[in-house]
Amino acid sequence: MFVRNAWYIAAWSDEVAQSPLGRRILGEPVVLFRDSAGAIAALQDRCCHRGAPLSLGEVVPRGIQCGYHGLVFDSAGQCVLVPGDHKVPPGAQVRSYPVVERDAFVWIWMGKPEQADRSLIIDFPYHNDSRNWPHQHTMMRLRSGYLLVLDNLMDLSHLGYVHKGTVGGDATTHVEAKMRTVRTPNGVRFERWMIDSVPPPTYVKAVGFKGKVDRWQEIEFVAPNAVLQWNGAIDAGTGALHDWKYDRPRENCFSFRLFHGITPETENSSFYFWSSANGYSQNDPSATRQLFDEIARTFEQDKAVLEAQQQRLLELPDGPLVEIHGDAARIHARRAIDRRIATEQAL
Ligand code: FES
Ligand SMILES: [Fe+2]
Repeated sequence: MFVRNAWYIAAWSDEVAQSPLGRRILGEPVVLFRDSAGAIAALQDRCCHRGAPLSLGEVVPRGIQCGYHGLVFDSAGQCVLVPGDHKVPPGAQVRSYPVVERDAFVWIWMGKPEQADRSLIIDFPYHNDSRNWPHQHTMMRLRSGYLLVLDNLMDLSHLGYVHKGTVGGDATTHVEAKMRTVRTPNGVRFERWMIDSVPPPTYVKAVGFKGKVDRWQEIEFVAPNAVLQWNGAIDAGTGALHDWKYDRPRENCFSFRLFHGITPETENSSFYFWSSANGYSQNDPSATRQLFDEIARTFEQDKAVLEAQQQRLLELPDGPLVEIHGDAARIHARRAIDRRIATEQAL
């Protein structure tokens, strides 16, 4: 079950070029393309002539041309040309979806078009700020339902087990992290502090920490599909904890931001759009690249667990699952999604 009245990431901006991009979103086949003026359009990926996927066609000056018998559809899904015939039959139209290109994302609205309020789109200005936050991004297709992917991001105690060799490090550090979890109107926010802890391999590789560090993670989940994360560390005892406030700027620290956008493909598979932004060595492109490579390695580790977990849950769906103390943020996140689904169903 999905929240439909929400903005989802359909693609990275740079994925949508002149050739059509077919992608299944919330179970529906969608084709994305960039029209001759450079604007992105999204249509149902089904020609209204004989049902061929439009993504097998090509972009032409007036829109997208079906690759089967050549009908052309404009960005609103209206058929504007039937080859060899001057008349477009009434009703020759395919569904179009509202799309917005912003902050390197292509957002799509899969619900009722009249409710597609652009002000609900999450801002992530760091993608446009290559001076202070140079970033790299990618998409991973996961054979795992989006709720399992969100669960993974909401319980970072897995870092010490799944990501020992990258961003995790020592497991006890994570289990003992000080946590504060706050519900928000549309999700949950939590902080984790690992004071006087051994820095994980990725952090040492990036800035060469010699001793222990005070380390933080700040995570915000915005239902139903986005997680904004800020991580960092500073030499232990040098003041990271004084006057601490959520998202307060911290100078002279090692820090990086992650964006995680999860778009359901089907009930049991997802697209994971993520970026890593370098907030510590902005003038060094190799540092941005190294950070990205480390995070990519980290998320490949998550993918292995998530896909195996999804398989096992499909195989044995009815066995008991228990909750432990680290599940608080995860439970809040799931409830935020449940509330949105219940609201939609009540309408
Ligand atoms: S199926 Fe698309 S033009 Fe015939
Ligand atoms: Fe992970």
